[in-house]
Amino acid sequence: MGYVGLCTAATLASRGIRTIGIDIDQARVEQIRKGKAPLHEPHLDTMLKNGVKKKLLDATSEISVVAGTDTTFLTVGTPSQQDGSIDLSYIKNATEDLGNVLREKRGYHLVVVKSTVVPGTTNGTVRRFLEQSSRKTVGEELGLCANPEFLKEGTAINDALHPDKIVIGSNDKKSAHELTRLYRRFYGSKLPPLILTTPEAAELVKYASNAFLATKVSFINTIANIAEQIPGVDVGTIAEAIGLDPRIGSLFLKAGPGYGGSCFHKDLQALINYSQNRNYDPVLFRATEETNEQQAVRVVGIAEKLLGSLSSKRIAVLGLAFKKDTDDIREAASIRVINQLKKKGARVVAYDPMAIPNTKKTLSDQIDYAENAYSALKGADCAIIVTEWDQIRKLKSEDFRTYMKTPNIVDARRILDPQQYTQMNYIAIGTGPSRA
Ligand code: UGA
Repeated sequence: MGYVGLCTAATLASRGIRTIGIDIDQARVEQIRKGKAPLHEPHLDTMLKNGVKKKLLDATSEISVVAGTDTTFLTVGTPSQQDGSIDLSYIKNATEDLGNVLREKRGYHLVVVKSTVVPGTTNGTVRRFLEQSSRKTVGEELGLCANPEFLKEGTAINDALHPDKIVIGSNDKKSAHELTRLYRRFYGSKLPPLILTTPEAAELVKYASNAFLATKVSFINTIANIAEQIPGVDVGTIAEAIGLDPRIGSLFLKAGPGYGGSCFHKDLQALINYSQNRNYDPVLFRATEETNEQQAVRVVGIAEKLLGSLSSKRIAVLGLAFKKDTDDIREAASIRVINQLKKKGARVVAYDPMAIPNTKKTLSDQIDYAENAYSALKGADCAIIVTEWDQIRKLKSEDFRTYMKTPNIVDARRILDPQQYTQMNYIAIGTGPSRA
């Protein structure tokens, strides 16, 4: 019942499909049973509440309930190991527990791997653990599919209700048929394009998708860094123009402080590691990651350009979450920027509308925390905008002038209107110097 499991369960129940969420964390289970989301995601709370009220959704830590169901979605996490490779321990444990229950079950059962796993995992580790513990064979009494998700934090419910595709990887017709049937019931006449393929291909689709998106971000950040060197050039214009070419597309071309979140870095590392173990070095993806890592250094470099040495300077970091409308700081650019600032001897005060509790768990008292943007700006030598929150976008040039010691602004998300800041030391990422 992590992010993917919760959203999957809530949306299944919302379409009248009886669903039980299983998690080893008892406190989480209790919370879900009360119809409360244990994490922040728009609409999830309401959906859980409705599902529980209509008795279409329940949660338990008793995996034995699986015996009374038809289909199991595996949605456990697949974190990174030290070397970047995928950690399959949760997959192994969950599959083994599942198989033990299925041993006693009569009739067909479909197991669907929704977790992001490297190619070969469904047909390898999952199949092996499942067959061993259930003492059944995949294909006859057991169905097995790989069926990745493409949910984005913040719009996950909408993404689950209106996906641009469904990818089903299976070895046999029956399991693919059963899962397609479930999705037909879910989507009715609005079934999204269906890609039926092998489990390995389905698994790779997920990595290819995230690798492409991450590379698109690193690409535009590279162009931004070049644009910064050219008088009269702004990366926004470049993105707008190239985005009109349908082969390129306009989305995911926002230059910024680098991508964050629980997936891009983790999945790229897993894909790189997977390829290298097969004697192929995916240079492109290493560059995507390296560019992303360096982007935080560049952001701090802009602050240095404005201030000179950052030693003992008070820097306000505006925004900590990896993107707006979430409290998630996993792999967030803010952390890389803050680490750089600390390395340079700066004193950091941070503001975020939602992510301060999570940041405190990681950075504790290494930095100061402000209750609002204004108190973060108070007495600051420089403000760095790291997340594109509406609360930060709404700040006025007077706010910076009134509260800051010296109004130096690094707009790493390009959310302020440059016209309002012509009288200040304002630099947006990807904007070249104005022509004298
Ligand atoms: C991403 C993918 O978009 C989903 O399709 C995928 O299912 C998910 O990972 C996953 O594998 O679970 P998410 O991590 O929620 O979703 O975040 P995105 O909205 O994709 O943003 C990722 C990062 O890229 C953010 O830090 C965002 O600020 C940054 N970004 C995105 C840019 O800097 N510029 C852009 O133009 C777009």
